[in-house]
Amino acid sequence: MRVLIVASESAPLAKTGGLGDVAAGLPAALRRHGADARVLMPGYGAIASPMRARFAPIASYAVRFGWQAVPCRLLRGEVGGVVYYLIDNAERFGGDWLYGYDGETERFVFFCAAAAAALGHLDMLPDVVHAHDWQTGLLPYLIRARAERASDVTGPRTVFTVHNMQYQGVVDRARLCHLLGTRDLRLLDAAALPGDRASCLAAGLAHADKLTTVSPTYAREIRTRSYGEGWDGLLRARASALTGIVNGAPASGLPTGARPPRLLRTAGAGAIRTVKARAKRDLQRELGLRPDPAAPLLGIVSRLSEQKGFDLLLPLLDRLIARGAQLVVLGVGEARYAAALGRAARRHPGRMALRLAFDEAQAERIYAGCELYVMPSRFEPCGISQLLALRHGAVPIVRATGGLRDTVRSRGRTRNAFSFAPYTSAALWRALRRALAGYGDRRQWRLLQAAALRAETGWQRPAAAYYQLYHELAPQRKGKI
Ligand code: GLC
Repeated sequence: MRVLIVASESAPLAKTGGLGDVAAGLPAALRRHGADARVLMPGYGAIASPMRARFAPIASYAVRFGWQAVPCRLLRGEVGGVVYYLIDNAERFGGDWLYGYDGETERFVFFCAAAAAALGHLDMLPDVVHAHDWQTGLLPYLIRARAERASDVTGPRTVFTVHNMQYQGVVDRARLCHLLGTRDLRLLDAAALPGDRASCLAAGLAHADKLTTVSPTYAREIRTRSYGEGWDGLLRARASALTGIVNGAPASGLPTGARPPRLLRTAGAGAIRTVKARAKRDLQRELGLRPDPAAPLLGIVSRLSEQKGFDLLLPLLDRLIARGAQLVVLGVGEARYAAALGRAARRHPGRMALRLAFDEAQAERIYAGCELYVMPSRFEPCGISQLLALRHGAVPIVRATGGLRDTVRSRGRTRNAFSFAPYTSAALWRALRRALAGYGDRRQWRLLQAAALRAETGWQRPAAAYYQLYHELAPQRKGKI
């Protein structure tokens, strides 16, 4: 089975969020599963030079884009045992950031055109092309259109995975036609938005052979008006092609010293207590929190965005601290949340710490040192932080939505989390109070923490599910490479 994963980011080359972890963890796990999985992505200027140095050109070609024939190079290299292909075009991808440029959507329309053209120059013939999120949404269409033009039935089959319905990649329709050199009504009707615009995300949803999203609950949610971002009708029509597969969490590669997970999984209660207590003490010291071993330490590592539920949490912070809890928040994002969290942190010196940064090493120390992990998301396709929290024996407090609902257990003997359903501060407060009570009950706490540490958070199971899906699409290719 030969699989080409196409995404706008993949760690460690370039990453800004969960997508970058998935586009790295999945191919590595698929390889362990016996598939030849490789990655195609833009050759950003932001890729660090030691990484870049591993790449060499294997082809030069021109991409038809509007009136232009844009010259591109295809680079090939190996990172962590996985073959990567980079599309090298300095004008589009040479800058220092991944996203946030003028003409952002067009950059990725170009990426799709360049990726489709690159298929003829790879040293592999993929059975399946697996595209991710709006940045690659046009690729399934381009592959289908090309196969039809050439009456080629042996071309690759396509899978399109949605990591977040909220990001659409909206582009002017007439401009899109011009750039792609098409007037194909199937493309335009399926992806049409009011005002003569089109959605790259919807193009992927309409034209890929199979659709997935990153949890079974989110797969159901996006077929409803409240979560479908306008495309619930299309998703209902394609329901038989759509499944949900939760992500694995990335393996720790960080030299933090506080790296207990694998050892703790099978450790006894005493060892767990000792390791957690030490990580907590170090974290309190690092963040300037009061060195209080008995105060429940709550953590948040998150983009500061509306999606993540800060509106629910902010009005509760004073009450939470008044109950003796400590809180650390690490993340970057919207100024209004940064400001409100900053004010709360100043009101509670020694009890609340705020770090406005994207710092993966500090994130890991937070997962390791905190005891409860708060994630009250408004929606959450999968969520990776709660998996990392579980792995470090930090008990999640989550809103039961999307992947948060599918990856924790808030009932029964194997319970490892606290959850609430209505999107209200009152419901979150009740969950926080239950969590603090659980923390205060030594026996209950020991069970919760041990269950958290035992949760499945790796890539093995998800990779098997993807492999099965590819096999349904391209059955003749089963077997080892
Ligand atoms: C997006 C989603 C998040 C998911 C990640 C990777 O960032 O918001 O829930 O875990 O993609 O799939």
